[in-house]
Amino acid sequence: MLETNKIHLGDCYELIKKIPDKSIDCIYIDIPYLFDEHGGGNSKLAHRIKKLNSKELNKISSGIDYKIFDEFKRVMKKINIFIWCSKLQIRDVLNYFDDENIRYEILTWNKTNPTPSCNNKWLPDIEYCLYFREKGVKLNDGYELKNKWYSSPINKFDKDLYDHPTIKPLELVKKHILHATQPDSIVLDCFCGSGTTCVVCKETGRRYIGIEIEPKYYKIAVNRLNGITADGQTSIFTNFDELEDK
Ligand SMILES: C[S@@+](CC[C@H](N)C(=O)[O-])C[C@H]1O[C@@H](n2cnc3c(N)ncnc32)[C@H](O)[C@@H]1O
Repeated sequence: MLETNKIHLGDCYELIKKIPDKSIDCIYIDIPYLFDEHGGGNSKLAHRIKKLNSKELNKISSGIDYKIFDEFKRVMKKINIFIWCSKLQIRDVLNYFDDENIRYEILTWNKTNPTPSCNNKWLPDIEYCLYFREKGVKLNDGYELKNKWYSSPINKFDKDLYDHPTIKPLELVKKHILHATQPDSIVLDCFCGSGTTCVVCKETGRRYIGIEIEPKYYKIAVNRLNGITADGQTSIFTNFDELEDK
């Protein structure tokens, strides 16, 4: 078994083989995006992505091999999985989990200040998180946990602090984890980036296994768990979303 409450540096397609069958309560992942070659209109993200070297870029934007979903099914006690993905990946992911015993929801992050778009495009103001749950997986009560949407400005503050172009809002991830897991549940994030899921688990008393292939992001995530920002400063706030709203 991979050690819990730890982020592992490596390739999740290999490391997941070390996780025993039916040992994980929930998977929370934000998969490498498949970008529309013709431009999605999100020029700020495109600008951040242009700054990456080609190795980092490939790991973030080339999509994934869906064979790893068979491993996800193997390691989960019951299917309970959140998958952030790009619009181009939604159909494949929905098709994979097309089973009468599995319920799904399309959860969204609605951005209130998207970059203006041009070229006959809609605004890039929604990100999608697909959630799948097998019959028998318990969701916790709490009106504020049950929203299918979350609305906030683009989290530039987090991006600057933790230097990851696709970092997700901590408060949003926290709502999802609090809704669909129990104290002491084991949560796997095998594309963990700057470690948002792992930080949420640490703050909410869940156990976590993080995997990140890129040494730069691995180091950022490990430091973040210890309250250190990407530029080596001690972070005194944890709830950056609230700060940004002010
Ligand atoms: C979309 S980002 C995740 C961002 C994360 N949700 C956050 O809030 O920071 C996906 C991450 O998966 C990593 N990755 C890509 N391929 C991987 C692999 N085979 N094994 C482990 N990590 C991988 C990338 O380096 C990238 O940091």
